[in-house]
Amino acid sequence: MADLLTLFPPGSARDDDGMLTLGGCRADALAEEFGTPVLVVDEPALRARAREYRTELTARWPRSRVVFASKAFPATAVQRVMVEEGLGLDVAGGGEIITALKAGIDPALIVHHGNAKTDDEIALAVEHGVGLVVVDNANDVDRLEASGANVDVLVRVIPGVTADTHAHVLTGHEGSKFGLLPADAAPLIARIERSPRLRMRGLHVHVGSQILDVEPFADSVAPVAALGEFEVYDLGGGLGARYTYADHPPSVPEYLDALIGAAREHLPAEAEIIIEPGRSMVAANAATLYRVVTLKRQFVAVDGGMGDNLEVALFDQRFEAAIAGRLGGGERYTLVGRHCESGDVLVDGVELDAPRVGDLVAVPATGAYCHTMANNYNGNRRIPVVFAGAGEARAVVRRETWDDLLARDV
Ligand SMILES: Cc1ncc(COP(=O)(O)O)c(C=O)c1O
Repeated sequence: MADLLTLFPPGSARDDDGMLTLGGCRADALAEEFGTPVLVVDEPALRARAREYRTELTARWPRSRVVFASKAFPATAVQRVMVEEGLGLDVAGGGEIITALKAGIDPALIVHHGNAKTDDEIALAVEHGVGLVVVDNANDVDRLEASGANVDVLVRVIPGVTADTHAHVLTGHEGSKFGLLPADAAPLIARIERSPRLRMRGLHVHVGSQILDVEPFADSVAPVAALGEFEVYDLGGGLGARYTYADHPPSVPEYLDALIGAAREHLPAEAEIIIEPGRSMVAANAATLYRVVTLKRQFVAVDGGMGDNLEVALFDQRFEAAIAGRLGGGERYTLVGRHCESGDVLVDGVELDAPRVGDLVAVPATGAYCHTMANNYNGNRRIPVVFAGAGEARAVVRRETWDDLLARDV
């Protein structure tokens, strides 16, 4: 039971009657007020994590910036927290630029990614004066030059590094669709350096996601350094989060010791370093509450599933779960969702204490990429996001309505 609590956001506890509390709010009270399923974010924990990243990076490399990878939790309110905590924002796509601006970001602190940026997205980035555009391919350069604007760019380089994570979230291997092999990057860098409009500021590298050891991060630095000396090196994100009892991701200091250690060895001392954490910033600072709808054989079926959490189907991510009022222990069940797919499993094999229809089930570590990939499968109304902290809770994203489902019909 103690173990299970450690998977929930740092401010989580058990009330006197055993009910889980998140950000000082009882899970049953949250479910009553906001309905289920509901994604609850511990706001103070989120802010503390953002500050930890910033402090630890600056302590190791003063000329540095943390930019939050918005894709991990692209809600305006989450982006706003990052802005308020002094972070920049990494955006991948026009929509994330729009919400980042709404969140109050100084556009100069936006880093714009994408392996297939459209004309419209480049126009949006240019119009708003996005700080850095990360060039992924030669067509990005064509489009940026055609825009007629003066733009600061980084070039994304494939470091040829793999990591022990799911193939679907690897990005730094030679076969990656993202970025340029060093041999292709070199002539494109030379072209940018000749461009009258574009300013070649530096290089970008990103190994992948949910990486639970530090070596791949350190290994990604030398291949980038081999391309020459620049003002800026964006060393990506990718640090893994703790989803299960068995996961022991490196701490932020451990990760940065390795990464910045490699930077000291290979990069110019006066360069600026950027990092782009996503998953490790948000995953562990949220949990999803569901209501049990039905029980059958080994199955406990809840009122959500792959409409609010695609991580399981997408890359076999293992989660844990508990009855919110009876944490820990019990028989082994398969926790499934309500969608018309056999792959709609939230947790395959999890101990639940005497589940009954109407019980609240809590799944920890749902802060990363769950809101991101929420969808309308089976007419699902995407679930709300609630910030909880110091015993107070407020919705920052409302639940979709039936009218929302009809809103795009013409
Ligand atoms: C370019 C880039 N930066 C940062 C991230 C964030 O990665 P993570 O959420 O694993 O920290 C990603 C996601 O894969 C990415 O593609």
